[in-house]
Order: sequence, then C-alpha cells, then structure tokens
Amino acid sequence: MILLTLFNLFLLLHVSKATDCVKRTYSGDTFVCVCDAKQCDTLNVEDKIEPNVVHIYDTDQKSSRLEKSETPVDSIKAKSYSSNQFVLNVDTSDLKQKILGFGGCFTDGAVININTLSEDLVKQFMNDYFSKTGLQYNIGRVPIGGSDSSVRAYSLDDTEFDFDLSHFALAEEDTKYRLPMLKLAQQINPEFRAFGSAWSAPAWMKVNHALNGAGGLIWTPGDVYYKLWAKYYVKYLNAYLNEGFKFWGLTTENEPAEGFRQGYAWNALAMTPEEIRDFVKLDLGPALVAAGWGKENLTLMINDDNTNDIESYSSVLLNDAEAAKYVSGIAYHWYSRNYPSSYQILSKVHDQYPNYFLFSSEAGEFGVASQFLGTWNRAEDYAIDILEGLQHWSTGWTDWALAVNTAGGPNWAKNWVDATIVINATAQEYYKNPMYYVLAHFTKFLPIGSTRVGCSVENAPANVHTTSFITPDNKLVLILINTNNDHVDLTINGFAKVAVATTLKPRSIRNMVIAL
Ligand SMILES: *[C@@H]1O[C@H](CO)[C@@H](O)[C@H](O)[C@H]1NC(C)=O
Ligand SMILES: *[C@@H]1O[C@H](CO)[C@@H](O)[C@H](O)[C@H]1NC(C)=O
Repeated sequence: MILLTLFNLFLLLHVSKATDCVKRTYSGDTFVCVCDAKQCDTLNVEDKIEPNVVHIYDTDQKSSRLEKSETPVDSIKAKSYSSNQFVLNVDTSDLKQKILGFGGCFTDGAVININTLSEDLVKQFMNDYFSKTGLQYNIGRVPIGGSDSSVRAYSLDDTEFDFDLSHFALAEEDTKYRLPMLKLAQQINPEFRAFGSAWSAPAWMKVNHALNGAGGLIWTPGDVYYKLWAKYYVKYLNAYLNEGFKFWGLTTENEPAEGFRQGYAWNALAMTPEEIRDFVKLDLGPALVAAGWGKENLTLMINDDNTNDIESYSSVLLNDAEAAKYVSGIAYHWYSRNYPSSYQILSKVHDQYPNYFLFSSEAGEFGVASQFLGTWNRAEDYAIDILEGLQHWSTGWTDWALAVNTAGGPNWAKNWVDATIVINATAQEYYKNPMYYVLAHFTKFLPIGSTRVGCSVENAPANVHTTSFITPDNKLVLILINTNNDHVDLTINGFAKVAVATTLKPRSIRNMVIAL
C-alpha cells in the first residue's frame, strides 16, 4: 500500500515535470519546446537561497532545460585535489563592469509575426520573453524605418526632396504593431528599455539614390543632408514620445561599413569612421542636445557594427573630445566573431576607452528557420558569444528578431534567418529553440547592475568557458559552459566557504548560485 502510494507520487512528480516542456523533435539533434493556447512551459529561478546551499541549474543537449537542483555546500566539498586538475578561482574582491541588460530586436518581421498569434498567445509569447516566468528581457532594439526583416523596403520619409521633413511619419509597422508591443513589454517588465538603430536614410538623401547597395549621404557632415539626417532621428524619437514610448538609447546607425559593399542586398548607409565622427560632432550631437535628448536623456552608442570594425570606428571618434562628449557606449555585432581573437579586441577597446561601455547590439543565426529547429550548436554559439563578451567587458547582449516564421522571414531581401522563437501561425503555435534556454542562464541570473568579478582557471580543458558575477541582491553566480562530448570535472575556489567540486554534463551550460 505504502509502496503503491510512493510509486504514484513518483509518477505524479515525473508527469508534472514532463508536461513542463512539450518536446518535439525536428531534424535538429535535440528538441524544441512547443507552446500553444493550451500549454507552454515556464521558467522558474528561485530568489531565496538558504545559507551554505548551492542552487544549480542545467541545460544540456540531451534533456535538461534550466533544470534545478540544490545541494548543501558540505556535500560537494572538494577532497584534496591533484596538481593537474581543472581549477576555477573566483575572486569576489576583484570587481569589474556592471550589466546593462539583455534582449532582442522588435523588427517589422518580428512584430508582424507576433501579431499573427491570437490575443492570448501574444500575451503568453511576450511573457515568455519579458516576464519573471520567462527570460526577463529588459532590452529591446528597434529598427528606425525599414531593415531587411520587413515585408518592404522603406524609410519614414520617402517623399523626394522633402527638405523640411514635413512628410516624415511613423509607418504602420510602428503604430499598428511595434508600439503596442513595446508598451506591453514595458508593462510586463517595468525595467524594459529600448534603443533605436537606423539601417538607411531615405534614398533621396543618398548618393546612390537607393536604400540598398553602396552609398552614403550626399555631401559632407555639417552640410544640408547630414543636418537633415540628424533631424530625422530627432523627429523619430519625438514621434515615439508623442505616442507614449520614450527611447532609452540610440546607435549612430546600423553597420556603417556594410554600406560600402557594391550590390549590398538590403538597407544600408555607408559612413567612414571620420564621417561618423563629424556627423556626431557637427550634426547629430548638437541636434539631440537642442531637442532635449542630451546624454542624460538618451544613451548614444557608436559603431553598431562587427568587431572587425570596432577599433577604427571607436578610436577615430573617441579620440576627438568634441565628438566623444555625446557618446556613452560602443555597440558591436557578432558576425565577425572568432574565439578568442575577436573577444581580445573587445578587451583592447575597453582598455583604451574604459569610460565607454561595450554592448552587443546584434547577434543571430542564418537560414530557413524550420530547417534548424532544435539545433544544439546554435545554442552553444549564443552561449559562448554572450559569456566571452561578458568576460571581455561587454555589459549586455541583444538577439536579432524576437521571432521569425518557419521560413525565417518575412524578409523582403530574402535574407532568411533563424530565431530563438519560431512562430507557426497556421498551427497557432510557436517553438522555443535551445537558444531560449541557454539565454535564460544569463538573462534570468544577471539583472541590471550585476557586477562581474574576476575568475581565473588552472589546467582548463579546451571548450570550457566560465564567468562569475555578483548580483545586486548579493548572490554569487557562476556560469559554466562545456561544449565537449564528455563531462568535465572541476574544483572551484572562492565560491563557497570551502573549495567545492562539480561535474559539468557533456554539451551543457550550468549555473551555480550561492547567497553571499
Ligand atoms: C532631459 O529631458 C528633460 C525633460 O524633457 C528636460 O527638461 C532636460 O532638459 C533634458 N536634459 C537634457 C540634457 O537634454
Ligand atoms: C506548421 O503548422 C502546419 C499546420 O499545422 C503544419 O502542417 C506544419 O508542418 C507546421 N510547421 C512546422 C515547422 O512544424
């Protein structure tokens, strides 16, 4: 009888856990979690931690999705260890940069996709990204006018030679889709804040008279077209403000280096480092300040391009005090990433310009989304880029489109991409890729203001990545990635009162959290 009850209890626990994620396997090497109007998994990270207890959260290729366990420190106390063993030393007195936040991009394509879901599913989807039972995102990126992730190519003033921008207006994509979703994100998470990035100026302001292809603004900084382009930014910020949404930040523009590529397939605007420096100094900076969008009211970020361009775009601008005074941070994209060299560039830029924060403003995977559902190495790509960015002074990370359809669109330039969440409007369901759960290891554990603390390794095997943070409510968080097909043993000093030993699962990410 007792045995039977215990057996039932076991079944019950097991069942309730299995219904958490509704697993489905496509062609990928691991599963996605399916959400529809009837069921959807939620994420739970416990705020309260008893003294001398370690909370452990695992996500791996095989089966775990932010799976929690807890253990007393005493039970994982390290036995004496040999000299060739993998050791992680955490130094909580060595304080480094603070976190600004994590999030994703509200592209036209993303907000159009989200809007294909029923009203209830829209709420559930937004909770999955922004609420306490989801990723707790606090950052949103917004394309100013069109980007490739859209159903059409456009700017917010396509009236030729409209030199007073009297025809400037927000698009239907802004008013009908994006604004309600930005407001919903802010309602779900009051800490939510957004930054804007423009892909291209109106074609009539450009030498090539097109939104795509190679070409910059007509004439030079300080002249009519650059002044108009600055005015366009101010009009945009004010138009959103009038609609009840205040922007937190702005980048000088998306990927200025791409605008030099002949035949570039989608919206781009060429600007050299010198042109951006002079645009900020002569046009954009003064226009923002005059309109009340000075540094206290708007966080201006430069570069917003790949790490292979970050040194030239940063140094030319920040070495000029008149331009630099308008700037708060340096944004970067992941497409030229290469471990470890591109991350070493981040550290180099930080060392040269320590007063300007580094921040990842775009990362994403390519391809027709339905062909990559449940692909573990895409989750590893995200995890490594986020962790190594943080280890090299970055203050946050921004995913590309919050959602794509199963084709990886919509995208007027046919630049099909993958996303953390893929929406299937026909079935009224969406799929959470493994990226979603790997993101949770950062977004849910490192709130705004968390401080990185020093950690060093001895005898670290290849393909293991580690970082450590103290949160504003005084928890010490370790994040450990193992991309090996075998488990990895390690000993950790400086985490608990005594050295502890742990084993990382194969192809996994693990967080270990303790109250200080
Ligand atoms: C910031 O905005 C407030 C309110 O609009 C304004 O009074 C103030 O002058 C602005 N500050 C700067 C530096 O632009
Ligand atoms: C999307 O839903 C439709 C209708 O249920 C289905 O036929 C199709 O296979 C689904 N796509 C994916 C990638 O699951």
